[in-house]
Amino acid sequence: MIKIAPSILSADFARMGEDVSKLKPWGADWVHFDVMDGHFVPNLTFGPAMCKALRPYTSLPIDVHLMVERPSEWIELFAGSGADIITFHIESEEKDPACLLRHIRAIGCRSGIVLRPATDVALCEPLLEDCDLVLLMSVNPGFGGQTFIYDTVEKIGVLRRMIDLRNLKTEIEIDGGINPATAKACIDAGATVLVAGSAVFRADDPKRMISLLRG
Ligand code: DX5
Ligand code: ZN
Repeated sequence: MIKIAPSILSADFARMGEDVSKLKPWGADWVHFDVMDGHFVPNLTFGPAMCKALRPYTSLPIDVHLMVERPSEWIELFAGSGADIITFHIESEEKDPACLLRHIRAIGCRSGIVLRPATDVALCEPLLEDCDLVLLMSVNPGFGGQTFIYDTVEKIGVLRRMIDLRNLKTEIEIDGGINPATAKACIDAGATVLVAGSAVFRADDPKRMISLLRG
């Protein structure tokens, strides 16, 4: 079953709790939480205090996507603020990603690495055993509402084969420009989790959109 993770970057920032509480009734599987530090990406969003404030508004897993330069500085704070899944970028300043992935698991969260669209998917191969998920960005990180980069579909196929060859259960999550057409291309290539910001929050009928995206 394909999981849908709406990104609250496209929610109403003045009504965040209310919007987050709608996600489960809409049929979403995870809440995607985009953390940007204004350095790793040219945008600023929210941090652990926001995660903690939103935690009581949903029973869905909170999927924290760290777009920050020094992810290791934030892991414990997010784990203590109710995050269930924590992913960080392989292109960040993190010196020992395998160690950080293991640390994320040790403190009770699911772990994952994120790759920008231009990053070679082969780089995550040595990290797969330590990842519960790999997040492939299908837009350049920083903003919602961008157009899906189709080269991602080939990367999904390569990653799918890497994971299957090792008999792993690693989820393949895709983030950016997801709509019913791009969702289908990702699912056909082997993705298991789709992040969708504008597609869900701008839809006239978000519940129907989530079921359309799931295919
Ligand atoms: C972009 C974020 C995405 C973004 C997706 O840096 O990581 O999660 O919110 O938004 P859409 O679905 O609108 O492309
Ligand atoms: Zn994201």
